[in-house]
Amino acid sequence: MTKLVRLDALRPDRTLVEEVASILRGGGLCAFPTETVYGLGADGYNPDAVVKIFNIKRRPPDNPLIMHVSSEEMFEDLTSDVPEIAYRLISLTWPGPLTLVVTKSERVPKEVSAGLPTVAVRCPGHPIPLELINVLGRPIAAPSANISGKPSPTNVNHVIEDLMGLVDVIVDGGETFFGVESTIVDVTTDPPTLLRPGPISVEDLIRITGTEVRIPPFAKGLSESDLALSPGVKYRHYSPNTTLYLIELDYYGDISRLANAVLRYADEFASNGLRVAVICSSETAEFYRVRGYDVVVLGSRNNLFEVAHNLFKVLRLCDSLGVHIAIAEGFNEVGLGLAIMNRLRKAARYRLTLTSP
Ligand code: TXA
Ligand code: MG
Repeated sequence: MTKLVRLDALRPDRTLVEEVASILRGGGLCAFPTETVYGLGADGYNPDAVVKIFNIKRRPPDNPLIMHVSSEEMFEDLTSDVPEIAYRLISLTWPGPLTLVVTKSERVPKEVSAGLPTVAVRCPGHPIPLELINVLGRPIAAPSANISGKPSPTNVNHVIEDLMGLVDVIVDGGETFFGVESTIVDVTTDPPTLLRPGPISVEDLIRITGTEVRIPPFAKGLSESDLALSPGVKYRHYSPNTTLYLIELDYYGDISRLANAVLRYADEFASNGLRVAVICSSETAEFYRVRGYDVVVLGSRNNLFEVAHNLFKVLRLCDSLGVHIAIAEGFNEVGLGLAIMNRLRKAARYRLTLTSP
């Protein structure tokens, strides 16, 4: 039996939080919102509870979890030999959507870190998990609250779809804010290495650290090499069953160029009798609507927060559209655009990189 608990995202009811914390204390599992996506949590110091997460998600045991903390003391308990640069990042971004990979202490169960010498830690910028971790008094180990391979959940319906009946409690705290998972930076390397782009942008990281940041191809979703750096990279992600094409084109600010490129492919599929939907920005939607295509709008190119916020919801929606093919437009890789393109590239079955006509 899964209990559904509704909590106010800004002022979570203390009695209900205590009830949820006691379920975690007893080795139970709880899905909860964060500012990025929903997480599936267990007491991070209870290996048996942590192992349940892997089984329920059908997650390979060599893909480590993020430890969620609510204070710097908790961070200290989990880590050792933390470089100065990490403290600079912590002081300017926590609580918030930045996960640091650092050398672990002996307190971290091997189940959490999948046997690696490092641990990923973040302090979520959301009152519900912060309060929950505080009341529990221990870190919460949590991956995203989806079945492995599916898009991360950004509202409680996604969580219910994947986990109802499988976990002890699901906390409904409404829609998440950012809609893409936290930025992950490995600070054990010099310069630091971006393992996953997210809401804290590379531009932010460079500004805060005053150093370069290494961006391996997989952080852009471009290559599956460098597997050893972040085990999660090698697994299939976010994938709808509908065949998703991603069109990447430098359109030099002229959106009709982009729309024409998308339409070329859409028309070709349609002429072969396939039903096609286009996943696009509000700026280009009308190009496809007038041609009779199903259109799903992610948001405006001038507001990448909106695009990121809607991205996983749209990827989940893909399969309910009743189309054979979905074609997604690419976005510029500045700021949050890097995170959006990383997720789109991983979700897409085929990536078409075009040169401008
Ligand atoms: O926003 C988020 O980060 C969400 C919310 C729930 O906090 N969590 C999340 O967790 O996205 P998950 O498990 O879906 O993604 C964590 C990623 C995985 O790709 C994993 O391989 C990587 O972090 N990771 C964890 N520990 C690591 C480590 N020690 N070294 C390198 N990568 C690590
Ligand atoms: Mg995940």
